[in-house]
Amino acid sequence: MPLFTYMYIGYASGIYANFTPFLKSFLFMLKERHPQDTHVIMSELVLPNDTNTLGNLMGGRLMHWMDIAAAIAAQKHCNCPVVTASVDNVSFNNPIKLGNLLTIEAKLTRAFNTSMEVYLKVWGEDLAAQYKYLTNEAYLTFVALDPNGRPRKVPEILPQTEDEQKMYDGALRRRQLRLVLGGRMKAQDADELRALFIKD
Ligand SMILES: CC(C)(COP(=O)(O)OP(=O)(O)OC[C@H]1O[C@@H](n2cnc3c(N)ncnc32)[C@H](O)[C@@H]1OP(=O)(O)O)[C@@H](O)C(=O)NCCC(=O)NCCS
Repeated sequence: MPLFTYMYIGYASGIYANFTPFLKSFLFMLKERHPQDTHVIMSELVLPNDTNTLGNLMGGRLMHWMDIAAAIAAQKHCNCPVVTASVDNVSFNNPIKLGNLLTIEAKLTRAFNTSMEVYLKVWGEDLAAQYKYLTNEAYLTFVALDPNGRPRKVPEILPQTEDEQKMYDGALRRRQLRLVLGGRMKAQDADELRALFIKD
């Protein structure tokens, strides 16, 4: 009997059913992924309920939107639920006024084992005056979770452009810095960081 006949009999009798989830996750990990696939652009109009008594967007509201945009970028990469593990230093360089448009751009820079770093840029825009200004930049780290809520492995990401490669390379240093600051790595083990300061 030809091979495909055996394969069809196997398929029809359902013996492959048990393998399907494994096959799917195997193929999922093989698929090549690029930072551009995770690109997110999110816009919000700053309304009275989003502002403080000075008529500026509240920092907490901005962080909420940043968290959402970055989480979407991370989920586009791993296609599973994620949690925010850390937010690196965020400085608010320019206020965003009531009635202005806010735009957040988010993109994955690098995937590690179960965690992913997302880079965000935030702009304010006065549509009447046709004036757009950069207000924030930040890095957020997300961890992918399995159905039991435990960290799960994420696929690799392959940078395509020179800028993406720079972000990818820098992600290792930033990761070590945040793990040292978060008490999850000993400073003496942070090779990439030490190399910045100590030349052999
Ligand atoms: C983030 C969390 C899942 C890590 O779980 P854990 O049991 O400590 O798991 P691990 O030690 O195996 O770490 C898993 C990954 O998280 C990373 N991680 C943990 N804490 C981190 C931190 N503070 N900053 C950056 N990355 C961190 C680890 O480096 C590891 O990444 P890797 O697998 O790519 O190397 C867990 O601490 C958690 O659930 N925190 C609460 C998340 C949350 O509620 N967020 C806000 C609402 S979404």
